[in-house]
Amino acid sequence: MILIDGKKAAAELRAELKEEVAELKSKHNKVPGLTVILIGDLTPSQIYVRNKEKSANEVGLKSEVIKYPNSVEEKTVLEKIQELNSDETVSGILVQLPLPKHIDKQKVIEAIDPSKDVDGFHPMNVGNLSSGYESSIPCTPLGCYLLIKKIEPNLSGKKAVVVGRSNLNGKPMTQLLLKENCTVTITHSKTKDLKAECLEADIIVAAVGIPELVRGDWVKKDAIVIDVGINKTDNGIVGDVHFDEVSKNAKALTPVPGGVGPMTIACLLKNTIDCFKRSQI
Ligand code: GUN
Repeated sequence: MILIDGKKAAAELRAELKEEVAELKSKHNKVPGLTVILIGDLTPSQIYVRNKEKSANEVGLKSEVIKYPNSVEEKTVLEKIQELNSDETVSGILVQLPLPKHIDKQKVIEAIDPSKDVDGFHPMNVGNLSSGYESSIPCTPLGCYLLIKKIEPNLSGKKAVVVGRSNLNGKPMTQLLLKENCTVTITHSKTKDLKAECLEADIIVAAVGIPELVRGDWVKKDAIVIDVGINKTDNGIVGDVHFDEVSKNAKALTPVPGGVGPMTIACLLKNTIDCFKRSQI
């Protein structure tokens, strides 16, 4: 079984991006800039944002974090986004989710200029991705896609099963696999026989948030299994895949942690650089 090393893949991607930033700097005399807005004091969000800032600096991006207290008014956030939209030094804007209840998430997402939407959450980018046009691609599914392609460069005709239908992961993951000519099945909590669906799959992407849902006998021999889950349990952090069982069957499997997670942040840096490049044309 191939243990897919997301840490190593992310380090390789960051090294490529660092070179690209240096080239862009010498060509344009400026570097791509990423601005992250962090609202409130949720610990996981603070950790994510700190890691994003650290990685952005490492590859040579200009990086800025704007912090607001939990009580910030929606209007203040929307005005700040408008300001960042017209700031030429800002290539990418990311508002860390989840947001406090009094702030309308969709309003915030739609306020971001689609050309600076490094999350790929704006309806314009969602539509462009599903139509097969150029767009920002959500970072986690993009990271999964790059890991899958490393194992199997030609995905044409493969059967893929995506477990979970979220806007963040399941839906964009489906679009990426479709673009590669996979036959894709999206499954979710109302799917009648999830095990039977998974048993058909050459590729399984589990992004559903249920600890160790995908068991060893759900996985065809030689399937590629990507685990997006990060679930806190009494036994520590586990994925959506039962690692020990599935590792006995799968051809390749991502661990949790150290699989998809590191790729997500590297892909955010990639998206920031791609937004910058499109803005320079
Ligand atoms: N919170 C958890 N994951 C994400 C993500 O990919 N983007 C944003 N903006 N917030 C998140």
